[in-house]
Amino acid sequence: MLQLNPNLTDLVADAAAGLRQQFQMAATITAAAPGRVNLIGEHIDYCDGFVMPFAIDRYIVIAGCANGTSQARIADWQDKEIAVFDVSQAQQIGAPKWSNYLRGVIQGFQDRGHHIPGFDAFIVSSIPGGAGLSSSAALECATATFLEGLLDTVLDTREKALLCQKAEHEFAKVPCGIMDQFASAFGKPNRLILIDCQSGEPELVPFENPDLTVLISNTMVHHELSDGGYAARRKHTEDGLAILGKASWREVTEADVTAAWDQLGDPVNRRSRHVVGEIARTTAAAAALARNDFDTLGPLMAASHDSLRDDFEVSCTELDIMVDIARKIGRAGGVIGSRMTGGGFGGSTVTLCESSKAADIAATLAADYTKATGISPQIFASRPAQGAHLVAAGG
Ligand code: GLA
Repeated sequence: MLQLNPNLTDLVADAAAGLRQQFQMAATITAAAPGRVNLIGEHIDYCDGFVMPFAIDRYIVIAGCANGTSQARIADWQDKEIAVFDVSQAQQIGAPKWSNYLRGVIQGFQDRGHHIPGFDAFIVSSIPGGAGLSSSAALECATATFLEGLLDTVLDTREKALLCQKAEHEFAKVPCGIMDQFASAFGKPNRLILIDCQSGEPELVPFENPDLTVLISNTMVHHELSDGGYAARRKHTEDGLAILGKASWREVTEADVTAAWDQLGDPVNRRSRHVVGEIARTTAAAAALARNDFDTLGPLMAASHDSLRDDFEVSCTELDIMVDIARKIGRAGGVIGSRMTGGGFGGSTVTLCESSKAADIAATLAADYTKATGISPQIFASRPAQGAHLVAAGG
């Protein structure tokens, strides 16, 4: 059996109940923001590339209300430490660690000239953390949406996503690209979000074929992007572009990389080959998907994984094992394509498969992965969902 996604209505009720229990307050504002999975286009959103994520039907929900003071008091479902901080002042990085996503977004609103009133809030989530599914971007986008409700204002969606990205850069110290916040902010049911990261334009691409299912397999190997691996990869790509002497990766060809191979040196030459190859693969994948050409799409997803494993070096043994199991199931068993998704160094794989075989595929992925690693993975199907939004009172 496929695991079902926890329903948004239940999450909203849980957040309201948490707020009542923790602070004896009734929710007047409830915001929900989804995580994301990326079908293809990895580690190229900060290289002017193309990425093709969708917002998944797993959310962070924040329920809260103004509390008449100048302090925010925020609790969460994991019973972690309650965050208490002054919102009438400029924000500082502080404890607990997760509160920095909220502090960063609050700072973004202050930078727009808003005065933030004190509030109480309770956070719940159905997005597994550290699984490469953008729980951080969802927390930022849920916070921004909650503040829109609190301040009775509406930001342009793009501005909101960029404000959240800045919060991640400055308060979580992860120099991320724009994919995660764009996916969480712009998500729509039955749509992929094809983002041209050079122009910053998201294009909503139909994805509503009921015969296709996207399986997410969380390896349960923890993923922490703030530990330096992500920033190091980004730096390699910046160095590569500088050595190649181009203004944008969109102007670089595979032949340019080959010609400058020794000058680029290892590992920058392999990082560069990944960037150029992944940009080409993602545009080819978008075209293949549009014409239901799965014989082309599957190998593109496979090549993306191999490049992330060998050239970009952001995969890990467990991700490779999960992808290999999907490959062995193959087209005959209903698998169209499979690859790691998100920042890497652990986290999840994404497997595009035939809906009629999805339950069997999920069962094989779980059983064979456990046999190989001793770890029980979390496997679930997901469909494109609505991006960050306020939930009407009463759910
Ligand atoms: C993380 C970042 C994104 C993107 C991916 C890799 O999720 O937040 O901006 O770079 O890694 O594709």
